[in-house]
Amino acid sequence: MGPTSDPKRNIIIVSNRLPLSIKRVEGGFESSLSSGGLVTSLSGLTKSTQFQWFGWPGIELKDPADREEVTKSLKEHNAIPIFLDKTLAHEHYNGFSNRILWPILHYQSGVSFDDTPWQAYRRVNELFADAIADAAECGTLIWVHDYHLMLLPELLRNRLQEQGKTCAIGFSLHTPFPAGDFWRNLPVRKHLIEGLLSCDLIGFHTDEYKQNFIDTCASLLGARTEIGNQIQYKNRLVCTDKFIVGIDPQKFTETLAQPDVQERIHTLKERYKGVKVIVGVDRLDHIKGLTQKLKGFDAFLDDHPELENKVILIQVAVPSREDVKEYQELERELCTMAGKINGKHATPEGTPLLYMHRSVPFTELAALYSIADVCLLTSTRDGMNLVSFEYVACQQERHGVLVLSEFAGAASFMSAGSISFHPANTTEMSEAIFAAINLSPEERKMKYEHLRDFINTNTSAKWGQNFIDKLSHRCRRSGDTC
Ligand code: ADP
Ligand code: F6P
Repeated sequence: MGPTSDPKRNIIIVSNRLPLSIKRVEGGFESSLSSGGLVTSLSGLTKSTQFQWFGWPGIELKDPADREEVTKSLKEHNAIPIFLDKTLAHEHYNGFSNRILWPILHYQSGVSFDDTPWQAYRRVNELFADAIADAAECGTLIWVHDYHLMLLPELLRNRLQEQGKTCAIGFSLHTPFPAGDFWRNLPVRKHLIEGLLSCDLIGFHTDEYKQNFIDTCASLLGARTEIGNQIQYKNRLVCTDKFIVGIDPQKFTETLAQPDVQERIHTLKERYKGVKVIVGVDRLDHIKGLTQKLKGFDAFLDDHPELENKVILIQVAVPSREDVKEYQELERELCTMAGKINGKHATPEGTPLLYMHRSVPFTELAALYSIADVCLLTSTRDGMNLVSFEYVACQQERHGVLVLSEFAGAASFMSAGSISFHPANTTEMSEAIFAAINLSPEERKMKYEHLRDFINTNTSAKWGQNFIDKLSHRCRRSGDTC
């Protein structure tokens, strides 16, 4: 990790998932890069800022010798594991975070609350608070991430107080925050909001999410919110703001320049000569609108028989949260849909849909982005969606077109450079794909340049630095230093 802008500043990052996931293999352990937007954005920050990253290593280890081995190898990457019992981790991550909280944050209805996962959620947040409070020193900046840890700021503030330490606490939410009425569906809604209001600074991806949060604080807790972006609650003044999360575009430029990647690009171009390639890369998750995407693509093929054998959709569905029943059901549904679409539209020359339910290596991902004429993203709701940024980063030569759902957070910033549509409107989606394929080179270039400037201006490093600067600035102002 590179040098910090303020070498004296001690920074702790906390997220449920560490940047490396640990797996047991014969004779020891193996680590691999975790996937997802959070890891992508924070990894971009490592170039400019030094920090320790606390989180769950994704594996249960009971044997102290195993724990020691894993701790030692993670330490080389400045990552500190917080070990959890398997059942507790399961109830916290799958049970409460992903089966109850995640759907509510993404406007999905029909969620049933259950007390066992909620108690596990509380317990894990307490265990994190203990570990972080012990590791923090007076003046440490603590930056907590995402919905798995919404109770942590309050628990941590109490622990730190007991130990006589004063630290700045910030929080970033990587999902949408829904409009008030939706949030009220959650029986424990107040606890989670109060948990966050022990922060000094809370960051959101868009102005809409920030405003929804502020409105909820007013209606649910009676907090004072008529003071700009600030919320006054129980003698605390909490600042909220929008921070545009991004990627590290240089990483893609450098990867694309590698000879092996260039060779792969050449092979793929030859393979799809004369065919328009549409790419989709999504975690296999309801919020990514994958069933809607397949329906829309099916409709597009129906609408345009003249394009038979001339278009292919390459869809990478990255396995995700596979222990959750709803995710398993979605996987089965997608498999069936993909089979039906190919059954209906295949010709002796080939099939129009290439559906991959697996993770692909980073270099392959970059090559795929690079050869695609169109990137189709159909989220029904999505905090930001960094895949849209990554596609643009790989389109220097082709000026491919981004077809982006109006419900992705990224659409708030990228609508002028993309073609937007409603993911549940199959006709609109079909028309958007057709328009993207037929855009003139001049229009493509104009849209591409707009998006290129946006992703190069709003990098992950800038996002992280802005947040850290604002958090430390707030603490200096409020005299919160030791
Ligand atoms: P989410 O955070 O919901 O997963 P995003 O689109 O914001 O959605 O981020 C997904 C991130 O996961 C992207 O940065 C993408 O490159 C990354 N990703 C996709 N496939 C893999 C993979 N096989 N290994 C590592 N990261 C991956
Ligand atoms: O986008 C929300 C998010 O939780 C990210 O923070 C994370 O990178 C991604 O989803 C993947 O989630 P998980 O950690 O469950 O694989």
